[in-house]
Amino acid sequence: MTVQVFTAVTGAGWESALVGALDRADHGVTVVRRCVDVSELLAAAGTGTGQAALLSADLRRLDGDAVARLSAAGVAVVGLVEPDDDRAADRLHAIGVVRVLPADAEPEVIARALRDAVAGGPPTGRDIADPRAALPARGLPEAPRERSAGSGRVVAVWGPTGAPGRTTVAVGLADEAARLDVPSLLVDADVYGGVVAQVLGLLDESPGLAGAARQAAAGTLDEAALARLAWAVRPKLGVLTGLARADRWPELRPHAVSAVLEEARRAAALTVVDCSFSLEEDEELSFDTAAPRRNGVTLTVLESADTVLCVSGADPVALQRSIRALGDLRDVLPAVEPVVVVNQVRRGPVPGDPRREIAGALERFTGREAAVFLPADRRATDAALAAGRTLAEVAPGSPLRTELRALAATLAGLPAPAAGRRPGLGRRAG
Ligand SMILES: Nc1ncnc2c1ncn2[C@@H]1O[C@H](COP(=O)(O)OP(=O)(O)O)[C@@H](O)[C@H]1O
Ligand SMILES: [Mg+2]
Repeated sequence: MTVQVFTAVTGAGWESALVGALDRADHGVTVVRRCVDVSELLAAAGTGTGQAALLSADLRRLDGDAVARLSAAGVAVVGLVEPDDDRAADRLHAIGVVRVLPADAEPEVIARALRDAVAGGPPTGRDIADPRAALPARGLPEAPRERSAGSGRVVAVWGPTGAPGRTTVAVGLADEAARLDVPSLLVDADVYGGVVAQVLGLLDESPGLAGAARQAAAGTLDEAALARLAWAVRPKLGVLTGLARADRWPELRPHAVSAVLEEARRAAALTVVDCSFSLEEDEELSFDTAAPRRNGVTLTVLESADTVLCVSGADPVALQRSIRALGDLRDVLPAVEPVVVVNQVRRGPVPGDPRREIAGALERFTGREAAVFLPADRRATDAALAAGRTLAEVAPGSPLRTELRALAATLAGLPAPAAGRRPGLGRRAG
């Protein structure tokens, strides 16, 4: 079978010679389209007429998002760099291009890399059939550089619409974990408009998560860059602030946000992500459409997290919303086992013992246990909002703070602080 190839090779004199050579001999590849830029390449990929793309590292606007979109469209990617340009090769690897060859490799070798890329699987071994056999002995990395995965844990704080208290819980958990000496990062990933900066009284001019996502897409996000982008509230607590304007959500691409979380695992022992409520997908329930989808970020965060908290309100309307949201979650991401956190628990809106009644209703309608109950504590939350400070600062003895501290300890893998109950948490399946 002949592999149909798109090329997007710029900047160097070798483009036409290479295309000619690939086409001329019988290398098992046919160049079906020579694209001048990334947009044309993505458009071509969308037509389904090619299985592979050969692109050069200096292509403008080539980023991780473009590479992800190519692979979502079923187009395998091979990158070319100027001979000995290690930095360009590193950059291509960082944005997800696994196969990278020097541009002066034999056309036969490049053709083989294209065929292998389409056949799938990581390049392994190093015999003559391996494209890396063409790499110079010195210089380019032998294999895609796998940076070691960070060991930090990621907790997604999610929940239905209706302001059940996701932000309150996320801010409280990150703050309490940091106070327990756990290096923590709070990430505001609410695509309907972030408020974490405001809640914490930060005068937010920082690029925050959007800036980190941009750098991740460009392949330049590392621990130092992440540290520069995060607001250091205290030595153990960093904050990646969110979108200052809700209409800027397209700046957060799921692929890039997932790369930010991977970096966060290296930078912090505990990363707490404040998520949006919605899971509805803009067009269809599928991960691989090319158009940006607003809720794609939420889905990506829930998928990448080690623990997903579903924060629910405690009145009948809020519980109904949670039951629906948990059903949606099961449909869209069946592998995720959320931990249900019932917030704002108080006597009044449900008859009888609120905890027992709420637990019973959730069990009946979702088959899930309510693992954690957080009390309604208006006085404490109002004081925190008014001051732009955390509960630990303005209401250190409040019952809500005590419970949040216990939950933070559990999530960080610490023994529960003396006063707190240790909530039994379900873990993510799979
Ligand atoms: N346990 C609680 N007791 C009292 N008020 C709460 C509690 N949790 C949250 N709130 C308040 O409810 C409102 C919505 O909370 P927020 O965390 O912003 O919700 P979300 O992020 O889910 O939209 C805020 O005014 C917050 O102070
Ligand atoms: Mg919120």
